[in-house]
Amino acid sequence: MKVLLFGGAGYIGTHVALEFIERNDTVGIFDNLSSGLKSNVHPEALFYEGDIRDKARVLEVLSLGWDVVIHLAAYKAAGESMIKPIKYTENNITGSLNLITGCIKAGVKHFILSSSAAVYGEPAYLPVDENHPKNPTNYYGYTKLCIEENLKWYAQLKDFEYVSLRYFNAAGYDERGRMLGLENNPANLIPVVMEVAMGIRPNLLVFGNDYDTADGTGVRDYVHVTDLAKGHVLAADHLLAGKGNLIVNLGSEEGLSVQQILDTARSITKKPIEAQYVDRRPGDPAKLVASSKMAQKVLGWNAEHSSADTIIETTWKVYEANQKRMKA
Ligand code: WQD
Repeated sequence: MKVLLFGGAGYIGTHVALEFIERNDTVGIFDNLSSGLKSNVHPEALFYEGDIRDKARVLEVLSLGWDVVIHLAAYKAAGESMIKPIKYTENNITGSLNLITGCIKAGVKHFILSSSAAVYGEPAYLPVDENHPKNPTNYYGYTKLCIEENLKWYAQLKDFEYVSLRYFNAAGYDERGRMLGLENNPANLIPVVMEVAMGIRPNLLVFGNDYDTADGTGVRDYVHVTDLAKGHVLAADHLLAGKGNLIVNLGSEEGLSVQQILDTARSITKKPIEAQYVDRRPGDPAKLVASSKMAQKVLGWNAEHSSADTIIETTWKVYEANQKRMKA
């Protein structure tokens, strides 16, 4: 199989590339290296530097001939999308449309979208299944829903099929430590906790401990990036077997609270990890947990690596390796 990963040098993309390369597929990586790392691009991958906002470059690379395209090149910071909507429009909407129209023009018939639980917004019921109402509460979630809707139309109008994978909270790193990229100035919980453990951030601000949850802190569905990556391989096989369009959640179905993540990190890193309990972050739901029954049934997918221990252990290993490299 020849698979082209847009955003393939990023956190999710590098793990997805690894899974395809390990089964001897031909992997192309298209990335502008704005956040992805060239050092994480697998030596066996074909690398194409480019930006999804550059329509001509996108069509040029798509025209090389690919069995499936995977789009992992969107910006993903929900908070930032509310402050810089134009940045998210130009990349997540216009850039994504460049990929879709480019596929149609270049005759690429199979497309996998990295989508997000953010399309659902405030949960009306839990666990959230794929039929849950789609009312995104941030512009980032809207951009994902917008592209899902566009894919639906092209699948009707052209010889074109897609799978949309709605990730919940992606976390963790390759268990063999082959991925070393670290996000600069992260906002997500687990990288922030790791920075406090490393001593490069004074403390964790816990956004609210008065939620209606077991310990009062926010609960999320953390899913290991290797589980997510394996989901992309299963989705590609699904499409190439002609099994048709599909939208599925990829979540561990296990909710973990901020406090549980903090306690697990303190136990694994043996660091104090100072925490300060502050006000809630606007827009945060108390709890967001997936039902992944559809992915399990249709794709045979399971979240095997997504325990709190594995997620924290694999992340901590990367942060420690990074610190040793910086001291060297
Ligand atoms: C997790 C929990 C916070 C930071 C976001 C995007 C979503 C998706 C995943 C792309 C919440 C709490 C966090 C901190 C804290 N992105 N927290 N202190 O908000 O669930 O989802 O990332 O697909 O679209 O919205 O992830 O890691 O920011 O927060 O207390 O410094 O940790 O309140 O309960 P979130 P998160």
